[in-house]
Amino acid sequence: MLGREAGRGPAGAGGPRSRPATEPPLVLGIDTSCDDTGVGLARAGQVVANVVESQTALHARFGGVMPELASREHLEVIDEVVQRALAAAGVGLGDVGAVAATRGPGLVGALLVGLNYGKALAWGLQVPFVPVHHLEGHIAAAGDAQPPFVALLASGGHTALFAVHAWDRVEELGRSRDDAAGEAFDKVARLLGLGYPGGAALAKLAEPGDDRAVSLPVPMQGDKGLEFSFSGLKTAVALLVERNQTLDPADVAASFERVVVGSLLSVSLRALERTGMTKLVVAGGVAANARLRREFAAAGIDVAFPPPALTTDNGAMIALAGGLRLAAGRLPESPFSADAEPYLPLADAAPQAG
Ligand code: KG4
Ligand code: ZN
Repeated sequence: MLGREAGRGPAGAGGPRSRPATEPPLVLGIDTSCDDTGVGLARAGQVVANVVESQTALHARFGGVMPELASREHLEVIDEVVQRALAAAGVGLGDVGAVAATRGPGLVGALLVGLNYGKALAWGLQVPFVPVHHLEGHIAAAGDAQPPFVALLASGGHTALFAVHAWDRVEELGRSRDDAAGEAFDKVARLLGLGYPGGAALAKLAEPGDDRAVSLPVPMQGDKGLEFSFSGLKTAVALLVERNQTLDPADVAASFERVVVGSLLSVSLRALERTGMTKLVVAGGVAANARLRREFAAAGIDVAFPPPALTTDNGAMIALAGGLRLAAGRLPESPFSADAEPYLPLADAAPQAG
């Protein structure tokens, strides 16, 4: 499982290899939380490799992710993805100074593959192991984001706002009451006959569309809270499409996108106002959306996004978050005992617990 150098670090032989304190370690990050096997390498906040082996084709015919298939596929490819990441960076296993892996949230079987691979690799290399929260990885992908800031996480599994007072003091401000924004994108994409996951395809379809052609309900209109809701919007689109077969799909896609982005923006602005924070970080797969980037950038706020390649699930973001944890000494007492946690709130993972 550990490739060519599997035998070099017998289990139990001493503690983590010591390195000069001044040299930031090369961190290998692994994410197997859902249907992508991601392995990345980062040093001192800089990504040096990012390889993602997507399982999209494997799950496409089911219209969603099949958990058991995902776990088996992660197991099948993880060793090769690690080797590809090392080759892309032009380094060997001996150059790796720490290993970080997602411990949750996600599909438990899928998480277990990356987490256990990461532990075994770190143990074998005798380097520190850093368990990382998946959403912390998404936020860290924004690179230079220094707390305090408000983080909007919009992915296929989550849509939530956090006040990141410090890396170890994260407060959840609000979340979606029902579907995540990415989930709504995927469901509407499916209605329009696009594949799964359909967010990027829907955004492409929307480009030439008239975003005012179709009237859709604004989620949580009149509500002054910090929550989101996207399932009513999705149902409204479903009914519209069913009743009006002549609607131009590009217009439907553009109108849907306008309403989702508008909702994400207005609640995020309210979160900045409530917290008194001046910086916003937008992360997660939906942060790849071009309209979202345009509208947030035009809102007159200090906003940061991860580079497009780091918005959807990947291992480099876990390497970045792991590097931040290592530098600050934010490690759990026994990292090798960290379990896979399918439902792990970010606010709980922020302190030493890992
Ligand atoms: O963060 P991510 O890779 O996985 C989760 O942790 O969920 O997010 C995937 C989600 C999917 O729902 C996908 O449709 C959506 O991000 N997505 C997009 C775009 N690219 C990916 N949604 C809207 N516009 C995009 N360009
Ligand atoms: Zn994600």
